[in-house]
Amino acid sequence: MANVAVVGSQWGDEGKGKLVDWLSERADVVVRFQGGHNAGHTLVIDGTVYKLSLLPSGIVRGGKMSIIGNGVVIDPWALLKEIQTLRDQGVDVNNDNLKIAENATLILPLHGELDALREDNTANVKIGTTRRGIGPAYEDKVARRGIRVSDLTDTQLLKDKIVVLLQHHNALRKGLGAELVDGDALLAALTDVAPNILEFSDVVWKRLDEAKRDRKLVLFEGAQGAMLDNDHGTYPYVTSSNTLAGQAAVGSGVGPGAINYVLGITKAYTTRVGEGPFPTELLDEVGQGLGERGHEFGVVTGRKRRCGWFDAVMVRQAVKTGGITGIALTKLDVLDGMDELKVCVGYRVGDKTLDYFPSNMTEQAKVEPIYETLEGWSDSTFGARSWDALPATAVKYIRRIEELIEAPISLVSTSPEREDTILVRDPFSD
Ligand code: GDP
Ligand code: IMO
Ligand code: MG
Repeated sequence: MANVAVVGSQWGDEGKGKLVDWLSERADVVVRFQGGHNAGHTLVIDGTVYKLSLLPSGIVRGGKMSIIGNGVVIDPWALLKEIQTLRDQGVDVNNDNLKIAENATLILPLHGELDALREDNTANVKIGTTRRGIGPAYEDKVARRGIRVSDLTDTQLLKDKIVVLLQHHNALRKGLGAELVDGDALLAALTDVAPNILEFSDVVWKRLDEAKRDRKLVLFEGAQGAMLDNDHGTYPYVTSSNTLAGQAAVGSGVGPGAINYVLGITKAYTTRVGEGPFPTELLDEVGQGLGERGHEFGVVTGRKRRCGWFDAVMVRQAVKTGGITGIALTKLDVLDGMDELKVCVGYRVGDKTLDYFPSNMTEQAKVEPIYETLEGWSDSTFGARSWDALPATAVKYIRRIEELIEAPISLVSTSPEREDTILVRDPFSD
């Protein structure tokens, strides 16, 4: 039996939450390893909708251990709010089933404020971030002035670290014309929230080592998607963490050998929320139709997602750079009733043809898609639970995608509901 990492292979919102929830029936431990509450993962279980941002999607099933790894940036207040919302929905969250890494970095209110200040500053490149402070928190982590979960145990240490942190942030804020942060108030806020966070704090790499020793199955839950990866995505229109499966090891404290199968979650078309290049974007009624049928609105910010055709070049790049073993193709049902479907099979940049997405911003903006047209289907795939229930042209579409992206399809998802999932090849039985 194999440990599985679930990652997005496009620009996020591919349906990771649904698939992690479905797979977690057989997992013992579910771990988040990067990102923060910029993520919005939706689970639909017998009509009840759960929206998770920081908590691993396995939390909704009883009896699983949920871990927030060191690679995640944690906003303590957002975490406590999410726990409360889930408890109100009848989900049990306690310090037995939720562990957060003591070496994870915290997102503070000043990070969210800086994120918004930069987004609103017209002199900056507008990224269209979630304004949750993700970027500024990772910056502080890498700059070695971040405040970590375990710092909450030591008031004096916290006080000293706040002085260093504010030396940087208040200088920045002054330059941006923003109010300066009061260190005493920040210290008071942190000492106030500390016990509620420390309740869940643990040495999670040890829990994961024990899980390995006991041959428990671990599911690593990625956030965002390959094209939002800080190195391999459409930089600078990316998030501030590495979203590829390689990060699952570092972001949780296990070796790379602990990840046996990388499941890339892939929407049967493409969406993106926020700014940045999107070669197959449809600004016409076809794109609008996809958005309406797919209910393409952001979970975190409520923003309308941009929609377009399936981009096989981009997903193939995600397969290669992220070591994706197999794909879960989601939202196939959204394509029901379309006469024809286009798939991007290459890019044109001026008089050049490319089989990959270039890294340079100027070139990226010039990329034009080369399409192949496939026949659509009029029958419904909505809620299909077996391969045999799919129309022949839908099977043809899936097979062509498989060929183009050079990775096999392991699962197909045909509705938001947990059980409306077709298993083609079991990722756990690698
Ligand atoms: P995530 O961020 O990757 O977990 O994805 P989101 O939850 O942000 O967005 C995916 C949306 O599509 C959610 O509203 C899901 O409930 C929904 N969804 C997931 N799989 C399917 C599917 O196969 N068909 C349809 N119609 N909706 C789906
Ligand atoms: P899930 O896990 C889609 C996008 C933002 C913005 C860029 C940077 O639900 O798939 P950030 O706040 O991270 O600094 O914003 O990344 N973004 C997402 N888009 N799904 C997500 O998460 C995203 N998380 C961040 O819209 O373009
Ligand atoms: Mg999402």
